[in-house]
Amino acid sequence: MRLILSIFIGLLPVLAGTVNAGGNADAGKEIYNTCAACHGADGAGAAAMKAAPRLTHLEPVYQVAQLQKFKAGIRGGDGDSKVATQMAAMTASLTDEQAMLDVAAYIATLDGGVSAVTVEGDLAAGDTHYKQFCGACHGQAAEGNVAMNAPRLAGADDWYLVGQLQSFREGTRGSHPDDVTGMQMRAMAGVLPDAAAINDVSAYIRSIAK
Ligand code: HEC
Ligand code: HEC
Repeated sequence: MRLILSIFIGLLPVLAGTVNAGGNADAGKEIYNTCAACHGADGAGAAAMKAAPRLTHLEPVYQVAQLQKFKAGIRGGDGDSKVATQMAAMTASLTDEQAMLDVAAYIATLDGGVSAVTVEGDLAAGDTHYKQFCGACHGQAAEGNVAMNAPRLAGADDWYLVGQLQSFREGTRGSHPDDVTGMQMRAMAGVLPDAAAINDVSAYIRSIAK
């Protein structure tokens, strides 16, 4: 019974869809030194370079899933965007899953403030697109839905949202045959009618961030 119980407890973080419990933020702080150069000491990203995004709004479970993809070449592999390839190389310092859990736990402790508004768009049109095409998975307030693997979008950099939506559409993200969740999102990025709609929905998501 005790054995069964401990196996069950061991599975709990997975079942609950949260990996916070498995990460050691103190150990993660050390690891994050190598990430800070691009993502900022406060995790707010490097908006000036429009390259490394803010991380502080992301659920640790999503960060770990993405880090695993980067490390395996499922994201940032052949045919993916240059910036994604850059990020994939950075996972060399993450020697195992524990290191990913730890660094994600540390990032969760950071307060990166709120991103600047850099994308102009028609907020009313963005609202309509969002409710029609995005809210079912990402949540009506863009808060994310761990059970659906859909990350939190509220709080993300608007330029990063635009860049990722373009990347999904162009197939430089979400094309790898093992990228099941990326492919799901790729299909959804395709339903936005045009570039203006990408800007509108991204500006809208930025506008509802607290
Ligand atoms: C050389 C700069 C650089 C360094 C160093 C770096 N990153 Fe990144 N990271 C990026 C870029 C650029 C992206 C965006 C990739 C893209 O556009 O697909 C990114 C994306 C990410 C993402 C995905 C975010 C999302 O919303 O999908 C995570 C998670 C992440 N980085 C974590 C880390 C961690 C943890 C470290 C340290 C071990 C680190 N990064 C080091 C440049 C960097
Ligand atoms: C069927 C469910 C679903 C719908 C509908 C959906 N998404 Fe997603 N989205 C996902 C999943 C799953 C991911 C994670 C992809 C991954 O694991 O790489 C994602 C990822 C993203 C990302 C990348 C975020 C990051 O930080 O890496 C953006 C941006 C995004 N979605 C925006 C949208 C927008 C805008 C819409 C509406 C046009 C939308 N999504 C509709 C499931 C969905």
